[in-house]
Amino acid sequence: MPATVITGLQWGDEGKGKISYLLCRDADCVVRFQGGANAGHTVIASGRKLKFNMLPAGSAAGATPCIASGTVVDLEEVFEELELLKSIGLGSGFMISRAASIVLPIHKKLDAMVEEIRGGRAVGTTMRGIGPTYSDKALRTGIKIEDILDKDSLVDKLEVLRKLHGLEVENPGKLIEYGEKIRPYVGDVELFVNDLLDEGRKVVFEGAQGTLLDIDHGTYPYVTSSNTIAGAACTGCGVGPTRINEVVGVMKAYSTRVGAGVFPTELSGELGDRIREVGQEFGTTTGRPRRVGWLDIPLLRYAIRISNVTWIAVTKLDVLSGLEKIKICVKYDLDGRILEIAPPSVRLLQRVKPIYIELEGWGEMTEDDWRRISERGWDALPEEAKTYIEAIERHTGSPVKLVSVGAEAGLEVVR
Ligand code: IMP
Repeated sequence: MPATVITGLQWGDEGKGKISYLLCRDADCVVRFQGGANAGHTVIASGRKLKFNMLPAGSAAGATPCIASGTVVDLEEVFEELELLKSIGLGSGFMISRAASIVLPIHKKLDAMVEEIRGGRAVGTTMRGIGPTYSDKALRTGIKIEDILDKDSLVDKLEVLRKLHGLEVENPGKLIEYGEKIRPYVGDVELFVNDLLDEGRKVVFEGAQGTLLDIDHGTYPYVTSSNTIAGAACTGCGVGPTRINEVVGVMKAYSTRVGAGVFPTELSGELGDRIREVGQEFGTTTGRPRRVGWLDIPLLRYAIRISNVTWIAVTKLDVLSGLEKIKICVKYDLDGRILEIAPPSVRLLQRVKPIYIELEGWGEMTEDDWRRISERGWDALPEEAKTYIEAIERHTGSPVKLVSVGAEAGLEVVR
């Protein structure tokens, strides 16, 4: 498939990094099209562990990395990750859009200030300056990559930012230095990607965060500041909707959420702690413990619907090993009304009661067990695990084609 979009179906942290790596092994190019260094994508492959905040994780598979105009860019992260990639012979052909927005130190300060003002209603942001950078972009006061290639206009634009926010801004000299460093990589990502698609080459659009964190379609205001659904690949990278061939929805075998906001299937107590520990559910970017819960089908159905998901990749199935029973929320009860699909409205979700089905778990497994299963394929999975995956398919109405059973590439079952 020439144009594949990878999108998260939950609250982010679904394991999109590994899935992107797997899908990029035969791709020519991989694009980040929204978000910034709030993302944390990890790839463990060929004995190496690579962490990405800004560059697409699929670049670890050798695809040409691109950062498109819909992103908010932390330049220091870009330089660091590019250096790392180059040191292992990867990242060649890297291109960044001249229209991508730049996160400045003032945006990180503003991020912290806004959170403090919100007090008890704080979003729990990653403090990476994401919201303030997107809001300056929307106000048309933002600094774009092309601005740091031209000192005179940069100074004027920084002055506007200083007056607007009443805070000291970045030294233009430093930004011009960054500009010189980034100049060789600046290009028209939109045209480059469209040309590749014309040639029938494979491009993977690597989404960050997840559907429920989408600024328009998520649990607002407890969301990020960009569109995270599959359609954002079109606007964030300048490719027409009819160019997209498939949308891969990535979901974890259970739910997690970082930061504040409604979470109908949240688990507290020992069971929640156990899944958090086994699944190592601590933020890649911030180290914060993630909240964990059972699968939530009404929200998944919504996410699948609005991104028109072609197939699903389920990740971290191994984490549920050893649980006697596993629950799935298949419907909501909203004051006596049964909901099978739910828009993530905070007001609505605060009132729903999850209706669960309970499935049998499977025994404890070692990494070696999962490795053997990965080599042998679907039939080698424990019966109860197959039943769990089949329940996901039945209740979401989407086929599960890939089941990841460990962080490392190679620990997955392809159907
Ligand atoms: P921001 O994107 O830093 O403004 O954070 C807004 C909300 O999105 C917070 O609840 C964050 O925890 C959440 N968030 C942002 N990026 C990610 C991510 O990559 N994974 C999970 N949650 C995220």
